[in-house]
Amino acid sequence: MKIVLGSDHAGFLLKSEIRKHLEKQGFEVVDVGTDSATVPASYVNFGAEAARMVARRDADLGIVICGTGIGISLAANKIRGVRCALCTNEFMADLARRHNDANMLALGARVVAPQFAVAIADAFLNGKFEGERHAARVGELCSLEV
Ligand code: RB5
Repeated sequence: MKIVLGSDHAGFLLKSEIRKHLEKQGFEVVDVGTDSATVPASYVNFGAEAARMVARRDADLGIVICGTGIGISLAANKIRGVRCALCTNEFMADLARRHNDANMLALGARVVAPQFAVAIADAFLNGKFEGERHAARVGELCSLEV
């Protein structure tokens, strides 16, 4: 499975942790940047770039990180076909996959400690969409796209 990662400067260190963790588990990882914790970078560009990869199916799933996770999730959700869920715990991440068929996870590096963030990422990647009644709702969501 191929996972795309993206972050701004605030999310850079956590992105590096997540990347190491995913590679250790055998995931193919594409990192669209940023590549520094000290040079300010817009969450908009990196969130959108990662989201475009997911929308084009160049990646199976994406994980994007900024300080709160808010800005980069908003950016990713502007891309047609993307359902990016900002999660602060494993329960949310699991249900984001099982009920919402989220194809991207957003994390806040200033909100969740790295060990929790890694567990949230694992819950997201291991979750499976349940379909059935949830498929109709996801379809309704998709129909809102302009
Ligand atoms: C950057 O300082 C910060 O604003 C950004 O990482 C994010 O939290 C925005 O939503």
